[in-house]
Amino acid sequence: MRIAVITGASMGLGREFARQIPKCYRSLDEIWLIARNTDKLEEVKQELTSVNGVYCRLYNSDLLQDEVYNHLQRDMEALKPDIRILVNAAGFGKNASVMATDVKILTDMIQLNCQALTRLTSQCIPFMSGGSRIVNLASAAAFAPQPGAAVYAATKAYVLNYSRALGKELAENGIFVTAVCPGPVDTNFFDTAGTLKIPAKQKLMAKPEQVVRKALLDVRRRRSISIYGAAMKGAKLAVRLSPDRVTDWVMNRMNNKEYNVR
Ligand SMILES: NC(=O)c1ccc[n+]([C@@H]2O[C@H](COP(=O)([O-])OP(=O)(O)OC[C@H]3O[C@@H](n4cnc5c(N)ncnc54)[C@H](OP(=O)(O)O)[C@@H]3O)[C@@H](O)[C@H]2O)c1
Repeated sequence: MRIAVITGASMGLGREFARQIPKCYRSLDEIWLIARNTDKLEEVKQELTSVNGVYCRLYNSDLLQDEVYNHLQRDMEALKPDIRILVNAAGFGKNASVMATDVKILTDMIQLNCQALTRLTSQCIPFMSGGSRIVNLASAAAFAPQPGAAVYAATKAYVLNYSRALGKELAENGIFVTAVCPGPVDTNFFDTAGTLKIPAKQKLMAKPEQVVRKALLDVRRRRSISIYGAAMKGAKLAVRLSPDRVTDWVMNRMNNKEYNVR
């Protein structure tokens, strides 16, 4: 049984991956969708079933709890699926200074963005085979430290570096890993993170359809990183060419409207 596994599938980028994957992977038997919001997952299931005729297995679960991993493990051992693609899209951020953010939010962010992604990936790899893909949602925030989103940017730096190294480890098994690093994308992400106060960042807002289309193209090309848009590619290059103290100064100047702390 050939399957795709997608976290964060109820909304935003995860939901868009669920929409576009059946067009690239025509021989999938099932798509396994993971998120907490049952109604939204059901909507995605209905859409995929009617448009693509793909059977969706729903895991309406919290990735911060153990149950979902146990449930998935039981299903994987019973059904022995061939996971063709795993998309780790569940994640959240917060546009606020560390001291203005409840420590529980910061630690949940680390747990979801890093620990859950790592745990699910390790659980899925034994059920992958040559040509399988792992897609991890990092962010352009991974390119440099971000005052005003310090923990979020650090979690995404983890995702980016973990993905690049894992890709090297798995290459000999024919499994390819892509870290997706978009700038701002027009999703519900900002309902939790807080709206962007910097007009320049709002102008760069991309559509989820475009980001996911580019990501799946890069996945097919076995690229280790997928960056949507010239501005974000430029940002990555600028960080690479600049001394750390210059990057830190620029990031602080750019972001201090976001966190309003002197
Ligand atoms: N939007 C952006 O500007 C942007 C830019 C760069 C990178 N990213 C990254 O892209 C990924 C997707 O973000 P998005 O823009 O699609 O945000 P979104 O629209 O808020 O979607 C986040 C998804 O994560 C799921 N989720 C959140 N907490 C969860 C939990 N504890 N357990 C299980 N699922 C959980 C949500 O589903 P439920 O609420 O139903 O659980 C939802 O499906 C994230 O990793 C984000 O960091 C986003």
